[in-house]
Amino acid sequence: MSKIGIVGIRGMVGGTLIERMIKEKDFEESHQYSFFSSSAKNQPGPKINHKQYTFLDAYDLDLMHEMNIILTTQGSDYTKDVYASLRKKGWTGYWIDAASYLRMEKDVIIGLDPINDHVIKEGLARGIKTFVGGNCTVSLLLMGIGNLIKNDWIEWISTMTYQAISGAGAKQIGDLLKQVRAFDIDEQKHPLKLEKEFRQLIKQKTFPLGEIGHPLAFNLLPWIDAKMEDGRTKEEWKGQVELNKIMGLKKILPVDGICVRVPTFRSHAQAVTIKLKKNITIKTIEKEIAGSNSWVKLIPNDVEESKRYLTPLAVSGTLDIAVGRIKQMSMGKDYISLFTVGDQLLWGAAEPLRRMLKIILNIL
Ligand SMILES: NC(=O)c1ccc[n+]([C@@H]2O[C@H](COP(=O)([O-])OP(=O)(O)OC[C@H]3O[C@@H](n4cnc5c(N)ncnc54)[C@H](OP(=O)(O)O)[C@@H]3O)[C@@H](O)[C@H]2O)c1
Repeated sequence: MSKIGIVGIRGMVGGTLIERMIKEKDFEESHQYSFFSSSAKNQPGPKINHKQYTFLDAYDLDLMHEMNIILTTQGSDYTKDVYASLRKKGWTGYWIDAASYLRMEKDVIIGLDPINDHVIKEGLARGIKTFVGGNCTVSLLLMGIGNLIKNDWIEWISTMTYQAISGAGAKQIGDLLKQVRAFDIDEQKHPLKLEKEFRQLIKQKTFPLGEIGHPLAFNLLPWIDAKMEDGRTKEEWKGQVELNKIMGLKKILPVDGICVRVPTFRSHAQAVTIKLKKNITIKTIEKEIAGSNSWVKLIPNDVEESKRYLTPLAVSGTLDIAVGRIKQMSMGKDYISLFTVGDQLLWGAAEPLRRMLKIILNIL
């Protein structure tokens, strides 16, 4: 019997994880589960298999120390506070994490098992105990085009993202809704007048910026996370370093782009430009993508199919990784573009963690 501590299920990723685990009947009676919270200790936790849990204190290191596996979706600050102290106390259990804080550490594996199962297995065999889920857009991109990288067909990747507000956490969903509701404008007016009133409204001090800090309703924000020294944002920086680490590439595959927050609720999309190492037909590319894994859905480059199936709304709440708009670019035969969208709370966060937990339980 393993003791499994799960931290942070009140959030977007944690909530999605629990939903998935219940749906897939992951809560086996042969293991003991505990639920921890950093802000709701002693309050009612989830009800699973008729058992009502109470949240335990996520900062109680003695309690945490009793766990064989800790899976946290709480966030980087929590990991920063607790992980090193636990290890210092001699805790040798498995740590599975959604947050980015530990991802680039040497003895940490970024787990995305449909893509890097061999890296995970090799890590487990040599005693690695810390596994972290990848950045959401990176995991989603790899689920779609990982095979093209494995085949060594790619010279570089440029990805322009369209990232949903739920990627920024639970609080910001409500903040976006408040912004949308603030536009209580008479739609009978001339569209030019409406649009002008809309711009005046967002300038008012009373406009609810919330944690987002800027108007995002009917807008977009071309900046996600902190600024790096080279002008990239941290989210953009993660694209290259994490993708290369997950794939275990010896020679760096350049990945860059611009990460953009858009006012969708859920699922991240990316418009991707790929410079191929050689001319490969679109048919071959499509075949390779379609055969990547059972979650990829190849969408024909067709108006109706693209508008119906290649959208955040079409994939939200599903494990589908939609890839479409695949075409050769006018820059030359070695350049292709494509569009891909997947649920960042599922394959971009909760699902790799859930699967990682199962992989570890299988070897214990
Ligand atoms: N959102 C995504 O799409 C995504 C994708 C990949 C990775 N991640 C990473 O996963 C981690 C968690 O992200 P998240 O989006 O799940 O963050 P979140 O929704 O903001 O939740 C984070 C934590 O906030 C706490 N919390 C306090 N009051 C809450 C309330 N009223 N409602 C909900 N939660 C409350 C919860 O922990 P306590 O119970 O301990 O207070 C919760 O686990 C972050 O490190 C993030 O970078 C997120």
